[in-house]
Amino acid sequence: MNLRVIGANKTIDPQNIQNTNFGHPGVRKVTKNGVAEYDVYIKAMQFAFQPGTGVPITLPANAKVTFHLTSVDVIHGFEVVGTNLNSMVIPGQIAKFTTIFPEAKSYGVICNEYCGPAHHVMEGKINVIPKSEFDEKYLVQ
Ligand code: CUA
Repeated sequence: MNLRVIGANKTIDPQNIQNTNFGHPGVRKVTKNGVAEYDVYIKAMQFAFQPGTGVPITLPANAKVTFHLTSVDVIHGFEVVGTNLNSMVIPGQIAKFTTIFPEAKSYGVICNEYCGPAHHVMEGKINVIPKSEFDEKYLVQ
């Protein structure tokens, strides 16, 4: 797979994320030089990813996607099974990485850092669909 991981960290106050994009997490579309790219803001908490757990993250294939992750409580992990996308999710920090999913496919997401008694059931889902089927309803409004 052609997955690219770029690490970068910014800080955030985990007690005060409501006024940031993490207060309203999800997929945002950004157009750069006429090309649609996507930013995904994901909040991790004991024991869920929001979105991801319950509501899957839906993304288009063959588009640049940048993930932004933070935790509101303890250290979690965010591993997209079957890819090299794997990051620690640390309260107070924003993990950021960019990738392109080359094909329409569903991926499991697991937390791979022990985060408490329900760690083993902390998981989520990413549905990558054809670009032609991706529309506004998958975006944060
Ligand atoms: Cu979250 Cu383990």
